[in-house]
Amino acid sequence: MGANSLTITDNRTGKEYEVAIEDGTIRAMDLRKIKVSDDDFGLMTYDPAFMNTASCKSRITFIDGDLGILRYRGYPIEQLAEQSTYLEVAYLLLHGELPNEGQLKDWKWDITHHTFLHESIKMVMDGFNYDAHPMGMLIGTIGALSTFYPEAKDIFDEECRKKQIYRLLAKVATIAAFSYRHRKGLPYAYPDNDLSYEGNFLNMMFKTTEVKYEPNPVLERALNVLFILHADHEQNCSTNAMRSIGSAQTDPYSAIAGAAAALYGPLHGGANEAVLRMLREIGSIQRVPEYIKRVKEGEFRLMGFGHRVYKNYDPRATIIKKVAYEVFEVTGKDPMLDIALELERIALEDEYFVKRKLYPNVDFYSGIIYKAMRFPVEMFPVLFAIPRASGWIAQWQEMLLDPEQKIARPRQIYLGADERDYVPMEKREKTSAVSA
Ligand code: CMC
Repeated sequence: MGANSLTITDNRTGKEYEVAIEDGTIRAMDLRKIKVSDDDFGLMTYDPAFMNTASCKSRITFIDGDLGILRYRGYPIEQLAEQSTYLEVAYLLLHGELPNEGQLKDWKWDITHHTFLHESIKMVMDGFNYDAHPMGMLIGTIGALSTFYPEAKDIFDEECRKKQIYRLLAKVATIAAFSYRHRKGLPYAYPDNDLSYEGNFLNMMFKTTEVKYEPNPVLERALNVLFILHADHEQNCSTNAMRSIGSAQTDPYSAIAGAAAALYGPLHGGANEAVLRMLREIGSIQRVPEYIKRVKEGEFRLMGFGHRVYKNYDPRATIIKKVAYEVFEVTGKDPMLDIALELERIALEDEYFVKRKLYPNVDFYSGIIYKAMRFPVEMFPVLFAIPRASGWIAQWQEMLLDPEQKIARPRQIYLGADERDYVPMEKREKTSAVSA
């Protein structure tokens, strides 16, 4: 088989096997031939949480966790954050190349002209309780979109897919803003097609009595950068959920609702919300050392720190920190920034964090910026979901068009009871008065 292979000796049988190495990986299915007998199922790999398993081949996002590198379609995140716009990045993620002038114009037009919600979708949103978490509303409402666009099931029709992509990218921002307005008891502010994607989102969030909402350009630009940084992050928990649900050929609205549900968790997109609650709980710089001590004793984790892939500074956190200062020029500095800076300073010097390669991640500073921009804490995961929709769709489309992909269905190691006979109720052990 040559140099690009692995020779495995099975010490149970003394047999030798050769397995090809391609792109630094071996195919798990190649291990199946390693058996102790003809009726043996064959060797499997055990990898809870996918710590060392590639689930797909992708051409979208590249991360080098040790070097702190993030690129979309080859373009460094720093260059995109500096020079691009979120909608252009969304195009890049989906199409593989930056758009030319005409393509970008059409792309913007198509998305801008799908921002309105069907009035019945608005009524679906009205049905949520007055204090419903906006992320729960977002998940539920995106799922409900599949009932409004049943044709979206036609996932292998390119034109149909395109239409759903415009709708999803456009409506996710409208639903996000409406979920905030619903919670506040404010009338919904309808989309304004004259504004940029981010400017319109700010309009739908914060417009009150003014005839025309005019977004602050610094805040609009900051949101644009935050959206670019959050647009994709290869095979993270929610993207894996998107691909997994999509692999059953589910419509994209239902699949995105599932991906958003994964994002909601405090270890993923819910982390920015958790960071702010943590900073509130710490309350002052003086209390930082005590808090770090409790983290080291294993009482809880330092939210916004650590990453499965980055074992160096998260490049997104570096960019965000810079944006934070630009935003504070407009909004005034948030006192929580000082607590965050002190936490970061102490953690980066502390052996516990250094040894485990725990650095601030994207969520460490994003929450402080969002707060300064007047977004309530509950909106933070929603603000993550809006741009991540473009990454989810790009990854979903790549999965659909990949001839190697099939319905996702992991194996398990069964460790439960062996076969046994059903026990009738009268023969079962009585445990307590309540259950008796
Ligand atoms: N604070 C304190 N200790 C930590 C932290 C933390 N934030 N993260 C990891 N550790 C410790 C962990 O206890 C373990 O220590 P030990 O070896 O002594 O048992 C070691 O570091 C390795 O942790 P792990 O849980 O095996 O690492 P993981 O790759 O499974 O987890 C993570 C990655 C992001 C879930 C985790 O670092 C974490 O829970 N961070 C806090 C939540 C957070 O900020 N999430 C946002 C991630 S970035 C945005 C996104 O992509 O969603």
